Amino acid sequence: MLTKQQDAYGRIVWDYLNGKRSAEIIERDDGYFDLSGGAPEYFAEFKKWPRHQRAAMRFVQGRVLDVGCGAGRCCLYLQKHGYEVVGIDASPLAIEVCRRRGVKKARLLPITRVSCALGQFDTILMMGNNFGLFGSRSRARWLLRKLCVLTSTNARIVAESMDVYQTKNPDHLRYHRLNRRRGRMAGQVRLRVRYHQFCSPWFDYLFVSPGEMEDLLIGTGWRVGRYLKSDGAPYVAVIEKCR
Ligand SMILES: C[S@@+](CC[C@H](N)C(=O)[O-])C[C@H]1O[C@@H](n2cnc3c(N)ncnc32)[C@H](O)[C@@H]1O
Repeated sequence: MLTKQQDAYGRIVWDYLNGKRSAEIIERDDGYFDLSGGAPEYFAEFKKWPRHQRAAMRFVQGRVLDVGCGAGRCCLYLQKHGYEVVGIDASPLAIEVCRRRGVKKARLLPITRVSCALGQFDTILMMGNNFGLFGSRSRARWLLRKLCVLTSTNARIVAESMDVYQTKNPDHLRYHRLNRRRGRMAGQVRLRVRYHQFCSPWFDYLFVSPGEMEDLLIGTGWRVGRYLKSDGAPYVAVIEKCR
């Protein structure tokens, strides 16, 4: 459980909800800092979402688990369209934000603790690059097998990732090489979130190319059904059960 001091992401969305300006600073373990799109993206209404994210909603079916639901934008959109959605997140303040914004089922729960206690799902939703929450190749394969058991026969995982190889930035290319040298996937990014005096613990976030995703799914009970591409590196994969 994150302490107040560690819940930097939650504080960012909490402040934004309360009318304050906030920024999400991402620190990578090679000392590279960047700003994310931050709260305006996490609160955006459907019509402001990138096209591939909007298209992804067409592949949502039945009872939905929104993993790493953030400020609840997907939960709210799907709820409005009649879906039963359970949002889970590791951030206590993000869950409070979801509840205040009207998400009916928001639970403080990290992805590693999902279990049949949540009931069975027809769609696992991982937007906002949240395929990354799988963390590493081995953790991804463990969690994918677990999700296979917790879902219905025709279930889907609708997950967003980013093809890290679509970059010419020398800092990123150097980081890929560093990762390979230490036996990690090129896009297995170790980072922490900073905001004001708040700072999350270090965690691994996994970005994969479409080919790496297909490779990673082998033997987990899942396979990619289709890709929803954007104009750049981000994409959504609609992942189905192997028959
Ligand atoms: C990039 S945001 C995406 C939010 C949301 N899915 C969206 O598209 O707007 C990542 C979210 O994942 C949550 N998160 C980080 N680690 C997590 C974990 N281990 N289990 C569940 N959620 C986690 C963060 O608190 C944050 O809300």
